[in-house]
Amino acid sequence: MTNVYNTFFNHMVAENGCKWQSTEPSRGTSSLTACLGVQSYATARGASFRGHNTFWHSQLPSWLPGSVTASDLVTNVIPQHVQQEIQGMGSNVTSWDVMNEIVGDGNDWPTKASDGSGTNLVTDLSFVHAAFSTALKYASADTRLALNDYNTGGNDAKTACMFAVLADINANAAVPYDRLAVGFQSHITAAPGQFSSKSALAANFAKLAALGADALITELDIKLNSASSADERYQAAIWGDYLDACLYAANCFEFINWDARDDLSWIGAAGAGTLFDTNGNAKPAAYEVAARLQRY
Ligand code: G3I
Repeated sequence: MTNVYNTFFNHMVAENGCKWQSTEPSRGTSSLTACLGVQSYATARGASFRGHNTFWHSQLPSWLPGSVTASDLVTNVIPQHVQQEIQGMGSNVTSWDVMNEIVGDGNDWPTKASDGSGTNLVTDLSFVHAAFSTALKYASADTRLALNDYNTGGNDAKTACMFAVLADINANAAVPYDRLAVGFQSHITAAPGQFSSKSALAANFAKLAALGADALITELDIKLNSASSADERYQAAIWGDYLDACLYAANCFEFINWDARDDLSWIGAAGAGTLFDTNGNAKPAAYEVAARLQRY
């Protein structure tokens, strides 16, 4: 595979440009330039585009933390922001991460649903309901509304909590399951025991399918302990398994990795977590992706 880097991807996401910090720099103002820029870049290359995200506890606008009350957040701030962003980006969005990383890391009810200053503004999920019901109102009918999180590919307490939050959104924000999706970020490490098995992932996809909801792989990268060729082969095998889990599930619709090449990756070039090396050359995992697609 020579020079495939520029044509390899057919689905894109903005790494930072659609986050709240970027889209509403002061209260009530809409600034979609960066987000629209990535969407246009994708469209110009024949690629589809997904939206990440309308809420995350990180990268919030500086005006927000500490400045609004819980009821202002739920009644005004969240609905206005979600409407502004989703309406402003239009229908050319395959899915929106309406909520990113709101599930805590234990079997707890969401602990990260704070205002970013460490203060929990809400003690229930009202702001989550407000965001999803607003998204349902303004997103186009074929745009999936996602709950996106990391470490939810296995069969553990966090994953159970994620399913409970999904059910809560369905029940209390009145979002039908056929509009809902779970985004499995999939930031993993190429070491035994540090990634969910293909069968666990497939079981979660099947559980979603039984509800009528969809599954998305939204931020796959696989960090290496060392950039040895053995690790690269292990990385390729895991990548292929994740792809197969998605390809062979009837309700898995998007498969996207986080950062396109090692030198641009948030985990750093040394982690070598992407499909292409620092020179843009395809790594074994990229060949594996091509092979699995061909076999499918
Ligand atoms: O834009 C400023 C720039 O003006 C400044 O000079 C520079 C100095 O450090 O920082 C720049 O901002 C950085 C921003 O990326 C844009 O490059 C922030 O410091 C940096 O923290 C931010 O990192 C992003 C991170 O989210 C924030 O936590 C990463 O690029 C991005 O890959 C990462 O993405 C997240 C997903 O959104 C959610 N899932 C996990 C994933 C990885 O952490």
